[in-house]
Amino acid sequence: MRLPEEKIDEIRRTADIVDIVSDYVRLLPSGRNYKAISPFNPSEKTPSFYVSPEKQIYKCFSTGKGGNVFTFVQEMEKLPFIDAVKWVAKKVGIDLSQYERKSAKPDDKQSEEYELMAWAAKFFHTNLNTKEGKAGLDYFLNRGVLKETISKFGLGFAPDAWNRLCEEAQKDGKSLNLLEEFGLIAKSEKSEKHYDVFRNRVMFPIFSPAGKVIAFGGRLIGDEKNSPKYINSPETKLYHKSEVLYAFNFARDEIRKKDEAILVEGYMDVISLHQAGIKTAVASSGTSLTPEQVRLIGRLTKNVLFIYDGDKAGIKAMMRGIDLILEQGLSPKVLFLPDNEDPDSYVQKVGGDEFLKYANAHKTSFLDFKIDVLKSSDGFASEEQTQASIRDLVSTIAKIQDELAREVYLKSLAQKLDVAFLTLQNELEKVLGRETPKRATPAKILSIPKEQAPPAHTSEKQSLPSVAERTFLKALLESLYHGSEVLEFVKENLSLLTFKHEWTEKIARFLLERYEAHDKQTAFEVTNELNYLNDEDVRNYISGLLIDEAISERWQPESPSIYARRCLMAFLDATKKIILQNYDDALLENIKAIQRESDAEKIGTLITERNRLVKAKRDAEAEFDQTIKSLIGLY
Ligand code: UTP
Ligand code: MN
Repeated sequence: MRLPEEKIDEIRRTADIVDIVSDYVRLLPSGRNYKAISPFNPSEKTPSFYVSPEKQIYKCFSTGKGGNVFTFVQEMEKLPFIDAVKWVAKKVGIDLSQYERKSAKPDDKQSEEYELMAWAAKFFHTNLNTKEGKAGLDYFLNRGVLKETISKFGLGFAPDAWNRLCEEAQKDGKSLNLLEEFGLIAKSEKSEKHYDVFRNRVMFPIFSPAGKVIAFGGRLIGDEKNSPKYINSPETKLYHKSEVLYAFNFARDEIRKKDEAILVEGYMDVISLHQAGIKTAVASSGTSLTPEQVRLIGRLTKNVLFIYDGDKAGIKAMMRGIDLILEQGLSPKVLFLPDNEDPDSYVQKVGGDEFLKYANAHKTSFLDFKIDVLKSSDGFASEEQTQASIRDLVSTIAKIQDELAREVYLKSLAQKLDVAFLTLQNELEKVLGRETPKRATPAKILSIPKEQAPPAHTSEKQSLPSVAERTFLKALLESLYHGSEVLEFVKENLSLLTFKHEWTEKIARFLLERYEAHDKQTAFEVTNELNYLNDEDVRNYISGLLIDEAISERWQPESPSIYARRCLMAFLDATKKIILQNYDDALLENIKAIQRESDAEKIGTLITERNRLVKAKRDAEAEFDQTIKSLIGLY
């Protein structure tokens, strides 16, 4: 899809970044801005994430990331730019169908890849309605999956044959190499021929958070002994297992609404729960739970309910998962189902309402769960085992990010185990003490630094523009919200300006180029221009300048025109400094040279040079003052 820039800008103007952001984090008013715990760094304690409703930009001072609504959606939904634009368009109800390409030729490499996965999913899905696919359809129906659920989850069937997918791909002109890369087909070592990887399996497409097919899981329907029950797509360009939760795309809104996510083990568990109306269920298919997956949930809710199998493997996985969830600042609970039930079998048996009733009555805190598990595995059988178990419990509590919550759980542990609170507290201090260096890092970033900290991913030695250049940029950018006179001025006087910092140069040139090219009938908006700035570090820096309260507060506008005037004055002041800086630098060099020199004649030459510089500086200053008179007249 190719969208004209005007359309992209229209979408951006229609969307309110505050609305979009507040789907992910809770925003609190803070002066002219809103602030929140950074969605990019949810374990931080002090909010470092700012959103400006006026400028429609955001800036995270802990990770350095900043931009407009599109870059935010790109970041959160892991989408390429154009897909983020489409995502926002859909959200605000702007129809883009007229831009949809009718031809089969994909826009770029990535959409070819997505398209191929969608094509494969369609192949598997339509198989269900064929003769050879009847076994697959029957399998689902027998397990109580309704037709509409089959459609919603795009379930399908891979036929019991060696190359049906390969044949279909050749017929439809699909790339066999790409199919191989995505693990759907493989090449035989002997014959060098391709064959299907998924055979005689029901197929579960795995979706990206934005709802695109990126991988598959396939379950045996027969009982072949030598083949695993499920096989899953390998890690690919599209499928990063550690960042994907099965059905997250379907569950997202409901998780936010219900303020809870249910974490289960299997595809069928998720599907049956959703079918029964419990649409907060997701699964970490194909991997054990990862920090990235927890972060995905953490943007929507703090409450995670584990409903894993009650077998050894399930318990072990939950024990690990609990620590992970606590570390990310979320709050885990655990539900055990009646013996020999998994979420799928149980919800199919009793229905959604009963299931929820049971869940609410039986879910336990992570602490009780851990104590129970330790008890039932002889964790308190001897004094030695008891000590080890208590240490284990305390180390889990130590993972809790919130100090008060830590204390409350520790109190509760003391009561439950009849151990003195102070003893446990000492133990906790020991564990925390060991971890101090790790914990200290996020706490250091307290509030907005006066001078913007460099983005986290740029190297430490990345220096920032000087105060003069920073003020120049800040004022130039701010002025653009009031018109383009200042930018015009920069254009006219560019030859006078030499910037010391690469970013200042880059931003000024970028703005001028874009300004030259832009349609003069429409406003030239900085927030919009961020779409076209390819350098992420520079974009992050600009966002910080625009949102920086340290300056905005000082510039608290009495009225927009006074504000604009202040921008201008600050700009001119900074510009003058930048221009005169060259002379000051030269004068300093000159003084140093004079001090080093002992030859009288050479000193004489240097002094003549010095006088010339002083005069040149004065002339430049006068000329600059003259030039700006015209500009000030405009305001
Ligand atoms: P289970 O073995 O508990 O299966 O695996 P299940 O989900 O209850 O499946 P049904 O009900 O028998 O169909 C739980 C999850 O672990 C992964 C799959 O994601 C599965 O849904 N798994 C399991 C594999 O990846 N490979 C396997 O061989 C088995
Ligand atoms: Mn099952």
